[in-house]
Amino acid sequence: MSADTEPRPPSADPETPFLRAESVEVAFSAGFAPGGGRGTARAVDGVHLDVAPGEIVALVGESGCGKTTLARTLLGLERPTAGRVLFEGAPLSYRSRDLRAYRRRVQLVQQDPMGSLNPRRTVYESVVEGLRVHEGTTVDELERVERALSRAGLRPPERFLARYPHELSGGQRQRVVIAGALVLDPEVLVADEPVASLDASVRGEILRLMLELRDQLGLSALVATHDLGLAWNIADRVAVMYLGRVVELGTVEEVLSAPAHPYTRALLSVLPDSGVEEGPVVLGGEPPDPKQVPPGCRFHPRCPVLASGEAERAGVADRCVSVDPAVLSGGAERRVACHWAAADESGRLPSADPAHP
Ligand SMILES: Nc1ncnc2c1ncn2[C@@H]1O[C@H](COP(=O)(O)OP(=O)(O)OP(=O)(O)O)[C@@H](O)[C@H]1O
Ligand code: SF4
Ligand SMILES: [Mg+2]
Repeated sequence: MSADTEPRPPSADPETPFLRAESVEVAFSAGFAPGGGRGTARAVDGVHLDVAPGEIVALVGESGCGKTTLARTLLGLERPTAGRVLFEGAPLSYRSRDLRAYRRRVQLVQQDPMGSLNPRRTVYESVVEGLRVHEGTTVDELERVERALSRAGLRPPERFLARYPHELSGGQRQRVVIAGALVLDPEVLVADEPVASLDASVRGEILRLMLELRDQLGLSALVATHDLGLAWNIADRVAVMYLGRVVELGTVEEVLSAPAHPYTRALLSVLPDSGVEEGPVVLGGEPPDPKQVPPGCRFHPRCPVLASGEAERAGVADRCVSVDPAVLSGGAERRVACHWAAADESGRLPSADPAHP
């Protein structure tokens, strides 16, 4: 195996979290609240999430649930209002020099390559940019740009160097964006809706590329997406977000084959061949508003299990409307933040980590 494709050695201490969000909250000042005064949007409202070396974690949920805000916070682009982000066990430092060093190890992959690539720059100029920002002009920059293009599947790389974005297909442009991230030899990619702007035909190619990067380079990734099908195809673990919280967490098989949270079940039920017994579930109620997080379980105004009386029959309806399910820990075990699911599973499915009541 060439040095080019050698996987990274696993983190020295498996107990040390690699990339971690710990009790992260991000609140934005958001105009005037309905009752008067300034409102606060609790975009991320207490999230624990770990990404292990070589692991791909999908962050899924409806528009506005806080995926991008959490992704930006993990990148150090947004500063948490409370809680912290840790990398290799050390809290992120927001001093500009430290952030620069961090951002070469944890790279953003932008969606919409047409928007993120400068139409007047060649592929070479676009990919080399990050390298020059961090290292200035180096003698081996051509070699490094070619290696990044090659890793991103643009082969032979010399054929692409002098091209402009309008001379490339949508999939090739997305590969150039990925090469721009890879040129700095990062350890983690944070991708926000990485294939949302692409045709269905090239989505699969880009997803396969991300899996190859994980397998060949040992890269980790956090992929924010509203597309559960994408999560299914690419991720090892899935974190389902609702109104700023992770409400269900587990391996792809656990969460998507046997969803336990009524929100996850509703999201899955509208996919073809979802296997959800009750058929498509249309969520009623107001769309969630992070300026007005409901008391009790934040999903309760829209919860089909509460509305149908199932929660009442399970003896948890009072808790649904008055007790906020505990924040889930972010590690490898399956978790669900739902009183009914926890009761239903008779404790088989831990609803929360005792360390984070
Ligand atoms: N800079 C900001 N100022 C005020 N509110 C913000 C800001 N950024 C995000 N929000 C609000 O925070 C909430 C979460 O937004 P975010 O973009 O993280 O959601 P998302 O899950 O990525 O949605 P989408 O799927 O539409 O991309 C939304 O209600 C949004 O309006
Ligand atoms: S805790 Fe109650 S309201 Fe919330 S999702 Fe579970 S059943 Fe529904
Ligand atoms: Mg988003």
